[in-house]
Order: sequence, then structure tokens, then C-alpha cells
Amino acid sequence: MDVNIQKVGVIGAGQMGNGIAHVSALAGYDVLLSDVSLDRCQAALATINGNMTRQVAKGNISEEDRKAALDRIKPTEKLEDLADVDIAIESAVENETVKRSIYAKLCPHLKPEAILGTNTSSISITRLAASTDRPERFIGVHFMNPVPVMELVELVRGIATEDETFDHCRKYVESVGKTVAVAEDFPAFMVNRILLPMINEAIYTLYEGVGSVEAIDTAMRLGANHPMGPLQLADFIGLDTCLSIMQVLYEGLADSKYRPCPLLVKYVEAGWLGRKTQRGFYDYR
Ligand code: CAA
Repeated sequence: MDVNIQKVGVIGAGQMGNGIAHVSALAGYDVLLSDVSLDRCQAALATINGNMTRQVAKGNISEEDRKAALDRIKPTEKLEDLADVDIAIESAVENETVKRSIYAKLCPHLKPEAILGTNTSSISITRLAASTDRPERFIGVHFMNPVPVMELVELVRGIATEDETFDHCRKYVESVGKTVAVAEDFPAFMVNRILLPMINEAIYTLYEGVGSVEAIDTAMRLGANHPMGPLQLADFIGLDTCLSIMQVLYEGLADSKYRPCPLLVKYVEAGWLGRKTQRGFYDYR
């Protein structure tokens, strides 16, 4: 079944979802941005507007582009409104049960030929696909945070993903200005397989008292030329997401080298999830 991607649905209006809506709308796609409440969608639209306004101020886009792109994004709290999208990209929380329940509610409303993509950063595409009515049109489309700035998207086929789905998805990703890296369907794919153990190790370095938060981040910023220190980056990604990814690696690869640091577990249990809760390794209050 062929599909010409013109209309994009984004499910989940959090930091990844609003970024995907942002770049899709700027590239000229009509976007339906859905979340459980209209308030969340409106908050996402305000964030998108703020980020686009910054792009205008920097001269990267024109004021007309900003207005036109914002007009192309329609918020909705009803999954049935996604009935005519050509691709739906789920960017909900990194939790398999939540994702599966979204697919169960969403799939009956999608056109049969619509592609269903997931922005999961670690969970098996094959397993998620198998819980839907369209494993051959299911694919991993893993954008990086912040989406408007980061150039990479990992594309991940499940075992049943058809070549046509992959080709359409690659075209869409390239049309929003991103570069594709193809990853096989292994736990956490490529970027997070490499990045998250480094962040986890930084947390162990803190846990074992080798250095302070500031010292560890300064060491990696100035000693390895990373744009952010690993603890600052962990706060930016969200400590709950970091823990979920480490758990997927630990369970999926059955190797103790992926054991989540107990300090990471403790922070998540405390509800200190990083920037989004104003407290993580740094205090943002
Ligand atoms: N929307 C639009 N533009 C944005 C933006 C946003 N949300 N955030 C930053 N920018 C733009 C700024 O306007 C600025 O643009 P110009 O270059 O045109 O001036 C540029 O990005 C740099 O921003 P700043 O000057 O404000 O700040 P900075 O120089 O400190 O850069 C950063 C910020 C780009 C986030 C940089 O610190 C960085 O690259 N950090 C690492 C990010 C990273 O590693 N991301 C991957 C996380 S892992 C992941 O996403 C996978 C996963 O599944 C967990």
C-alpha cells in the first residue's frame, strides 16, 4: 500500500513531540499534535512558538515562515482526529505499556495505508510493531533532543517493516532537514547504546565520590569537548528516560556493565527527574 506523506500526526506533545511537530510544520507538512489534554497541546504550541521566535531572531527563518508553520499545527485531544494523517509518530513516555495502549486506541482510527512510527529511544521495534495491526508499516523514527537543532534521526526497521515504509520514512526525515543513520533493532539502537552507558558511568563517578557534579561536567566539557557535561545532559534528557534506557540495555543485553547506577534510581524515586521537574543533578528552581 503506497502513501504520499503530506499530513503528519504527532502523539505526545512533550519535549520530543513538540520538536517533531516544529520541524515538520517548518518543512511544510500539515501537523496534528495530539496529547491527553488540550492544555498540554497549548503548552507545546507555546514552546514551539518560543523556539521558532528564537530562530527568527537568529535569522535562521523568516517571520512569515514562523507564522505559516504555527498555523499548520493543529492541536487535538482526540485520537480519532488523526484519521487522515499519512504518518503518525508516537512520542509518548518511554514506557512500553503506555505505548501499546496508545497504539490500541489509535490504530482503529488510522487509514490502512498510514505509517505508524515510534520515537522510542530504546524499546524493541519488532515487539512494539507486533502489538499493532500494521507491523509492515511500523518503524522506529528516533529524533534527538533538541529536535530543531540535532541533525540526526535513527531509522530502525522491525523484522516485518516493509521496504516501502522505510523508503517513505527516509524521504520524510530528509525532507525535514535531518540525516538518517540506519540502526538494527537491538536494545537502545546506536546513539543511546553508546551515550547512556557514558552518562551512567558519570553518575557512578559522582556516586563513588570521584568528583563533584560541576567537576565531572567540566571535565567532560573541557576535557573531551562535549557541548554539555554528562550530568547536565542527563538532566536535559530526563532522569526517568535515562533510567528506562539503562533498564532496557541491562535486561536486553543481560550484561552487568549496563547496571543502572543506584544514585540514578534514587533520584528517579525522589521525583528528581532533571530540568522538567526543576531538580536533578542541578537545581533549576
Ligand atoms: N529549538 C530551536 N533552536 C534551539 C533550541 C530549540 N529547542 N535549543 C537551542 N536552539 C538553538 C539556538 O537558537 C542556537 O542557534 P544558533 O546556532 O543558530 O545560534 C543553537 O541551538 C545553540 O543554542 P544555545 O546558544 O542556546 O546554547 P548552546 O550553544 O549551549 O547549545 C545545545 C545548546 C544545542 C542543546 C548544546 O548544548 C548541545 O548540543 N547539547 C547536547 C545535546 C545532545 O547531546 N542531545 C542528544 C541527547 S540524546 C537524545 O536525544 C537521544 C535520546 O533518546 C535520549
